[in-house]
Amino acid sequence: MKTISKFIMTVALGVAAFGFEAKAEDFPADIKPLMQKYTCFACHKVDARLVGPAYKDVAKKKYSVDKIVALIAKPQPSNWPGYPPMAPMTNVPKEDAVKLAKYIISLK
Ligand code: HEC
Repeated sequence: MKTISKFIMTVALGVAAFGFEAKAEDFPADIKPLMQKYTCFACHKVDARLVGPAYKDVAKKKYSVDKIVALIAKPQPSNWPGYPPMAPMTNVPKEDAVKLAKYIISLK
């Protein structure tokens, strides 16, 4: 019995890990580790709505890098009616936030 549940756990964890990996695959090699480290990829995809808007839709708003850096630390949910509010990500250092912001505005 114990062995079976251990086996099921292992398979479930493997599937979960693979699922995350597949989503993060969309990002370029230099951005992917940041999206994973700060869990952005759990809520955002490049070109489809997930929990939050697609990064391509964010890019359409033509924000400056500084504006996106500010929005990561202090989101403005009123900019995205119909979405749940994003939690403020105050754990992202400015340097990394700038990299993420430059990547987001580069999307078309
Ligand atoms: C728990 C889910 C979640 C996580 C994690 C998350 N976001 Fe969001 N994000 C959202 C949602 C939902 C919105 C739309 C509502 C809002 O802006 O509050 C959003 C909006 C945004 C916007 C648009 C802001 C605006 O006002 O137009 C940007 C840019 C953004 N996220 C970047 C990021 C980055 C970069 C990370 C990682 C550091 C991240 N998000 C992590 C859910 C998330």
